[in-house]
Amino acid sequence: MCGIVGFVGKKACADILVKALKRLEYRGYDSAGIAVFEGDSLKTVKAKGKIDEGLVRKLSEETPLTATAGIGHTRWATHGEPSDINSHPIGNGRISIVHNGIIENYRKIKEFLISKGYVFESETDTETVAKLLDYYYKGDPMEAIVKTAAEIEGSFALGIIFKDFKNTIFAIRRESPLIVGKGEGESFIASDVTAILDHTKDYYLLEHNEIARLDENGARFFDFNGNVIEKALHTADWDLDAAEKGGYKFFMLKEIHEQPEAIRKTITPRISDGMPDLSECGLTPEKLRGYKNIFVVACGTAMHAGLVGKYVVERIGRIPVTVEVASEFRYRNPIVSPDDLVILVSQSGETADTHAALTLAKDMGAETLAIVNAKGSKIARDADMVIYTHAGPELAVASTKAYMVQLAVFYLFAFELAWARNAISEEKCRSLVKGLEEMPALIEKVLEKPDSSQFAASKLVAAENLLYIGRGLDYALSMEGSLKLKEVSYIHSESYAAGELKHGTISLITEGMPVISVATQTDVFDKTVSNIKEVKTRGAYNIVVARESRQPGSDAADFIITVPETDDILMPMLAVVPLQLIAYYTGDLKGNDVDKPRNLAKSVTVE
Ligand code: M6R
Repeated sequence: MCGIVGFVGKKACADILVKALKRLEYRGYDSAGIAVFEGDSLKTVKAKGKIDEGLVRKLSEETPLTATAGIGHTRWATHGEPSDINSHPIGNGRISIVHNGIIENYRKIKEFLISKGYVFESETDTETVAKLLDYYYKGDPMEAIVKTAAEIEGSFALGIIFKDFKNTIFAIRRESPLIVGKGEGESFIASDVTAILDHTKDYYLLEHNEIARLDENGARFFDFNGNVIEKALHTADWDLDAAEKGGYKFFMLKEIHEQPEAIRKTITPRISDGMPDLSECGLTPEKLRGYKNIFVVACGTAMHAGLVGKYVVERIGRIPVTVEVASEFRYRNPIVSPDDLVILVSQSGETADTHAALTLAKDMGAETLAIVNAKGSKIARDADMVIYTHAGPELAVASTKAYMVQLAVFYLFAFELAWARNAISEEKCRSLVKGLEEMPALIEKVLEKPDSSQFAASKLVAAENLLYIGRGLDYALSMEGSLKLKEVSYIHSESYAAGELKHGTISLITEGMPVISVATQTDVFDKTVSNIKEVKTRGAYNIVVARESRQPGSDAADFIITVPETDDILMPMLAVVPLQLIAYYTGDLKGNDVDKPRNLAKSVTVE
């Protein structure tokens, strides 16, 4: 969703702002712009469309800018269509702002401002903030910001510049993320740290209702009463390489290949003497023994990781697990009690619905555990306990490595829970942990042979519809395979429990329609193969993901992609890799911008 950047220093800032905005492209956007202190004025350049085609083209038509301070924005449209006029920065000649979030009471404020004679140009909620700031601004920026923030409701991160306060940026946030970067003689604001990694790894996390003031002397922080706040400086453990493609055509492919390393980084600190150890987050064996029910609440791919988690935890831990999409959970008055554990899963840690579900679970007295990739993010900070996944920055909109490490955490969690509750023996627990430790090397083997996934992609590229089917863990996995394909190839696909097909959906099968089956689970293998035969009989072209040692015959499968041997329960980590690759290659073959699929944003900070 929207991205914010800002720079104050001694160098010309236009290129710095544009480059920082490009680093935020992965968040998803449809227009971009900057506003800078040029001479004694505020100069704004903004345009609909991709940064290079819109903003950069417009900048190239201008006299080169010499400003050394300014703000920038990538907009993902919510209020008002993507257009030059609705793009940010938004303001007038004396104030300019960039905004990430949604102002919920903007209509009321707009009516008030119209009654005071203000005329609105855009359809955005952001313009009400710019004009309210203007209304309250009587020469003291802090006063105007505090009065404005007291009136606006909803979520916001704002970068604000005042013509009268040359080379000074003000920033404030509530809900939406914002960091303040500290460089050598220069300061930054940004929606996330990837935007500033070209310059510095040091940053401050701006908290709710804190105001930052950046000028040539650095950054200072204030509360609403003007008191100075001392803040801890953080250092990003992501380097620039992690935020660059490193020879891969797309981030998605790079991130698929980073999965073995991401698993190693995520599990190694949580395995002690061959046994799982999640005590760092406060999950003790006593707590694990005490929970009555477990809920997993998340969105999209993170929810799919929770589905695999459910099968694994229930199978070996023998405790009920309910998995639900956050946008449903938050509004259906769920039955959650203080004896329950609610697990929130999120790569970004900023997803609005997942955060709302967290708040609800806490209000209902449940203990909350966040599984999050982005350090210091909202969900991580607000949950009772947090387990960070160590995927590094995931910049492709389609999540791959974040999903993989979410699975890794669910496995450790399930193993420790099952052991703590005496549902498995120590020997079994050790052997499962060993299997998990072997996973990175096995995934590397799968990644060495992308040809079969490429071939499968070539069979999908002309399809208009297809099905993913599986049973048990294979079904949970096929949901993720189907979502991945939809996201990056735009081909319509559905995931179905293989045994449910004949209750209706099998009517969709037509001659040559591709069906991707996942058939790795020993206990249901024969049943799944029967279902694969059922669709073959009706004309389907069957692509099957199966383990090396147990493959369906040619009477069922048209094309088989094999994965190496591991415990049934760990199979999803291996079998998901061909599904990710199939989605990637299909999207690429179709000529799509695989990293930034249409209509999608990386972190969904609105509901
Ligand atoms: O940042 P989160 O993990 O909370 O995001 C949740 C979903 O929006 C996300 O997984 C989405 O489904 C991805 N684009 C899937 O690839």
